[in-house]
Amino acid sequence: MTESQTVTEISIPKTPTLPDAQTVTAVTHWTDSLFSFRVTRPQSLRFRSGEFVMIGLMGDNGKPLLRAYSIASPSWDEELEFYSIKVQDGPLTSRLQHIKEGEQIILRPKPVGTLVLDALLPGKRLWFFATGTGIAPFASLMRDPETFERYDEVIMMHTCRDVAELDYGRQLIESLPEDPLIGEFVAGKLRYYPTTTREHSAQMGRITDNLTSGKVFADLGIPPISPEQDRGMVCGSLAFNTDMKTVLEGFGLREGANSEPAEYVVEKAFVG
Ligand code: A2P
Repeated sequence: MTESQTVTEISIPKTPTLPDAQTVTAVTHWTDSLFSFRVTRPQSLRFRSGEFVMIGLMGDNGKPLLRAYSIASPSWDEELEFYSIKVQDGPLTSRLQHIKEGEQIILRPKPVGTLVLDALLPGKRLWFFATGTGIAPFASLMRDPETFERYDEVIMMHTCRDVAELDYGRQLIESLPEDPLIGEFVAGKLRYYPTTTREHSAQMGRITDNLTSGKVFADLGIPPISPEQDRGMVCGSLAFNTDMKTVLEGFGLREGANSEPAEYVVEKAFVG
């Protein structure tokens, strides 16, 4: 065998890889309609906690089928984590829900998004408001030391229809104070306020209602939201986001952006 033949042999992979392919390292099914998964992280990928990327699979027509997914893992993590709904007739998630460890997904390494700490002015208290899979960007931000360096108190409000749908967030939040890397930043600063709206649980009601009635402030023993002290990040369905903007503006908060930080920011959760 000549040297040139050897080189040729090495440069052609035995199994062709997809463009921007990443390998799945773990999959967890939380309910019939929710799952999370971890993939390898491209070495060059830098992102700010709260941002999203486009991920997906190769479509039957040979074109990539991509959707926006918030990165749920913190920026210091070696891998990337995503949290997804399973839509039985959804073009992507009907297939993505069946991925297994060792298989590949497509990931475009161009992170973007408005749910970033840089889009908010400094303040005392930071609120995360999420419905359903909208908790994903906050799963990243809750594991970022900078979140706790910038704010004295962080409050995670998460609302789902049923108790089981809260599990991904609940397990993560309960594990954080003991986490060897992030525990010391989180301890005593992170407060969790989960509610359900359909199945009975200890705390019930929509986030919007619990804010406007003042119930959440009474339950947590804190003053109502004010533009002087409070900052907010919102991630859920379009209807939730729209209603939350009205609620937060009612408390005197203004919407911020990367280019012009203010008191709150909003992003639509991926819905399938
Ligand atoms: P509800 O059960 O009262 O509709 P969905 O599964 O429809 O995306 O909803 C997820 C959660 O978000 C549910 O608990 C739902 O409450 C709540 N929700 C849906 N729309 C709104 C809204 N416009 N304002 C506040 N909460 C909402």
